[in-house]
Amino acid sequence: MSHSVAPMAFVAGWPIGHTKSPVLHGHWLKRYGIAGHYLPLPIAPEDFEGALRMLGKVGFVGGNVTIPHKMTAFAVADEVTDGAKRLRAANTIIFDADRGIIADNTDGFGFIENLRAGSPSWAAKSGPATVLGAGGASRAIVAALLDAGVPELRLTNRTREKAQAIADELGGAVSVVDWAEAEASIDGAALVVNTTSMGMEGGPPLSLTLDAMGEGALATDAVYAPLDTPFLKLARAKGAQTVDGLGMLLHQARPGFAAWFGREPEVDNDLRQAVLGASE
Ligand code: ATR
Repeated sequence: MSHSVAPMAFVAGWPIGHTKSPVLHGHWLKRYGIAGHYLPLPIAPEDFEGALRMLGKVGFVGGNVTIPHKMTAFAVADEVTDGAKRLRAANTIIFDADRGIIADNTDGFGFIENLRAGSPSWAAKSGPATVLGAGGASRAIVAALLDAGVPELRLTNRTREKAQAIADELGGAVSVVDWAEAEASIDGAALVVNTTSMGMEGGPPLSLTLDAMGEGALATDAVYAPLDTPFLKLARAKGAQTVDGLGMLLHQARPGFAAWFGREPEVDNDLRQAVLGASE
């Protein structure tokens, strides 16, 4: 047995102050009575590669990586999963005595699992999906929806080139739509995803009417602060079903926890409350 001490996992970012991951994993460790630790580590970009290699030698079983380390983590890994390859970025690291640094990306898994948990009747084949926005969150969500088999994905962004870049990179059934046609792109969509910062705490206001949102469509937001975003509120008013964005964060954490601490964790209301109650 390589660990004579309680297993330790980390979340590495720069800066790292805002992360909710320590509360999330800490809640699971406590609930399952596991003598382990999950620690936030501020690591500057120039130190990241050396630090990552060292962490595997000093008792850490793995960890999460966040901005700005996701692409470096992918690049320095000895082994990468298909999920990480798809995005050329990692959010989950596992140290293995034989295989070395294994890099995975669970953001897409988290997105799909959150939809399935929140709306069991949703299936990728239900119909076209519309994704609003083309930032970092959008890329992982578009890849996840394509891999899940959506028949058509309409991607629209204020800056069209960023949507086009995601479409070019990920391939598949993506049609890039001008931001002027964002409302129209919602018409007939079975799923509408907001990945823009509109409606986020401290972000710009929501500038859409969602008049074309179909009754019975499913709407979800990548933003979870506030939890019930203006986009979700308006979508509900138009008759859509909604799933909030917090679950994506909670579900993306499951594979890492299981790999590091040897137990499949559950996402439930206690966990949601613990993470929501954690102040910055
Ligand atoms: P993240 O990585 O979390 O997705 P981001 O990269 O900052 O965040 O992306 C923010 C997204 O919100 C982008 O799609 C951005 O559009 P641009 O690419 O044109 O900047 C979108 N966004 C931000 N403010 C917006 C606004 N007022 N109206 C429409 N889209 C907006």
